[in-house]
Amino acid sequence: MENKNPTTIVIFGASGDLTKRKLLPALYQLTMEKLLPENLKIVGFARSEKSHEAFRAEMKAALVQFSRSKPQDGTQALQAFVSRLYYQSGSYDNPESFQTLRNFLDKLHGDQDNNSQHDNRLYYLSTPPTVFWKIISTLGETGHIAKAEDQTRWTRVIIEKPFGQDLASAIDLNRKILSVLNENQVYRIDHYLGKETVQNIMTFRFGNSIFEPLWNRRYIDHVQITVSEAVAVGSRGGYYDHSGAIRDMVQNHILQLLALVAMEPPASFVDEAVRDEKVKVLKALRPIPQYEIAHFSVRGQYTGGEVNGKPILNFLDEKGVQSNSHTETFVALKTFIDNWRWANVPFYIRTGKAMAERLSEITILFRQPPLALFKHKWHEGHVEGDQMHPNTLTLRVQPDEAIRLNFGLKIPGSRMMLQPTDMEFCYSDVFHAEPPEAYERLILDSILGDSTLFIRHDEVEAAWKFVDNIVRGWEQDKVSTIKPYQAGSWGPKASHDLLEQSGRRWLHQ
Ligand code: BG6
Repeated sequence: MENKNPTTIVIFGASGDLTKRKLLPALYQLTMEKLLPENLKIVGFARSEKSHEAFRAEMKAALVQFSRSKPQDGTQALQAFVSRLYYQSGSYDNPESFQTLRNFLDKLHGDQDNNSQHDNRLYYLSTPPTVFWKIISTLGETGHIAKAEDQTRWTRVIIEKPFGQDLASAIDLNRKILSVLNENQVYRIDHYLGKETVQNIMTFRFGNSIFEPLWNRRYIDHVQITVSEAVAVGSRGGYYDHSGAIRDMVQNHILQLLALVAMEPPASFVDEAVRDEKVKVLKALRPIPQYEIAHFSVRGQYTGGEVNGKPILNFLDEKGVQSNSHTETFVALKTFIDNWRWANVPFYIRTGKAMAERLSEITILFRQPPLALFKHKWHEGHVEGDQMHPNTLTLRVQPDEAIRLNFGLKIPGSRMMLQPTDMEFCYSDVFHAEPPEAYERLILDSILGDSTLFIRHDEVEAAWKFVDNIVRGWEQDKVSTIKPYQAGSWGPKASHDLLEQSGRRWLHQ
């Protein structure tokens, strides 16, 4: 760590699940790997009254349960880590609570600098989005936020998703936040960008020379992005019923995957250069015409069923969900990027809850060879109509992180017969190590001041613009309805039809 200044992380929403399951385990792991400033202190802030000791005991239990390195209770390392934790209770809409917090923070690192603020501060907003602005404005009013021109220390704010409910609310939130903070102090998080395999999309594309010449409309027929989840909405029914799959997954994670797959090579690997290229892709997404919404999109809602042997309730019977809800738990889209590289190449994307399996994967499907020399020579089942099995390149984000190239090879024997075959690179086989958790990388980057893997204000707005248009189309469309699909399936039949109309099919169905 170059930055030797004392550093304090304040987590708003410290009694939430994210703090226990992800944030504290990530901070613990980074500490074990000696990647954080030695004198780091972490302060949890939430509504409920609690002593420092009670908070430490709770977090210790969470670390034993959720931490990647599975520390034993009672070990010295674990004890040393929890002794850096503190807790302040307070209300998000009470400036006095923030004043008390500030007084507490100012004394936390001891007497240096006459008890005045001298430490770097990272505020993590892991709260419901309804209080994002309240927290930031009150931080501003109560003197928590150091001016950007103060070179001796920094103040940064990490904001969890969802960032806005639609374009208008995202613009409004950006405008307000940027009246208190500079853009380079704001870290809008999308945990997908912290996943190793997602970062590897960039290294795979731009650190190698093999595929990039093929990465365009001349050689690629279409792209499929699937992010399916086996889990149902679980305890988050109330939130999810207001959000739906398009806001929960497409606006952020999936459009980010799409941007990384489709972006132009940045001129350098610094934050602004990478984000400039991503935002160009998001701005080039062709708006789906509202009168054709049913032709380009499918909404689904799961009905009861079974996934991996476990029974799943009907979505409408889930706790917190309105019994007549029209919220989509599945969405599939056919979309285009109107730029030189991708003109007329469809990007099919789909995501859903309670689907057949957990799978996040991007597949590039290459065009057919110009002459079908071996058309009748493919092993049974690998020719459909005039289409032979296409060459595919799959980037599997999770689980079983891998990169797989599929091509046709001659089956050994005296007959000329072809069969699709995989050439596969598996992370676990090559690196023999578990990839770090997304939050580890992202928290570290925010402390190092690197915002490459965070979302800039214009990216978030471009993504909402695309999504808003679809949501409006659904609201106005009287013809297409939400399609039921059985829990444990690959989504409604209409999602298969979305590809079939142009002679294509999902790789998993
Ligand atoms: C979150 C969504 O952002 O991402 C959840 O709100 C979803 O609904 C989760 O389950 C998926 O993340 P991961 O890392 O498990 O793929």
